[in-house]
Amino acid sequence: MPKERPTRQTPLRIGHRGAAGHAPENTLESIRAAIGFGVDQVEVDLRASRDGHLVVIHDETVDRTTGGKGKVADLPLAELTTLDAGCGQSIPTLEEVLELAHGRVGLMLELKVAGIAVQTVELVRQRRFTGAVIYASFLLHELILVRQADADAKTLALFDEIPQDAVAQALTVRASHVGLNYKTATTQTIMAFHRAGLQIFVYTVNEPHDIQAMRALGVDGIISDFPDRI
Ligand code: G3P
Ligand code: CA
Repeated sequence: MPKERPTRQTPLRIGHRGAAGHAPENTLESIRAAIGFGVDQVEVDLRASRDGHLVVIHDETVDRTTGGKGKVADLPLAELTTLDAGCGQSIPTLEEVLELAHGRVGLMLELKVAGIAVQTVELVRQRRFTGAVIYASFLLHELILVRQADADAKTLALFDEIPQDAVAQALTVRASHVGLNYKTATTQTIMAFHRAGLQIFVYTVNEPHDIQAMRALGVDGIISDFPDRI
């Protein structure tokens, strides 16, 4: 009897910066939109305010996404939260995101700066967030700190270009997942990561034909501004 081929699992649907194609990125409205589309997880970006609060914003400065000016790290929470992040939304704190997502959706928390890993893990734990959480970063050292703070954490090593030793790098920081720019994903790289036991998510896949191509490659998760298209 021929061996039955294992059926390929459907990739996880992950809303990028909430559902940034539908609402201002990294806002509660954007996260609500993603939840409305029934995503598995919502990806958001984390930074620290001047007074040490974890806030959800992508860029180093507030200039592009709000009506304000200046570096996130130079502004106190009280000032950050008065800014308009689009459609009257404000920059959320991680606490607000955990509260909104609790019981509704999993989270992919991208650590945009060094030094916030432990605080992030502790807040997730303190708030007793029960959904799936994946801690992601391009700053691979942060993932080691996450693992030290939570031995069971899922961690995702982000790569823009894929270095030759990408598998070794991901294994060295004991990541469970890798996140690849979808333009760099090939059958060979997917096979190499899978052989090493790593799950593969691809970002930021918005066009239906690219989504289809990523499914065909057998990735484990697709991150999109338009998660309703996945
Ligand atoms: O989750 C991966 C993706 O969000 C990384 O790129 O620039 O959108 O944070 P960026
Ligand atoms: Ca991100």
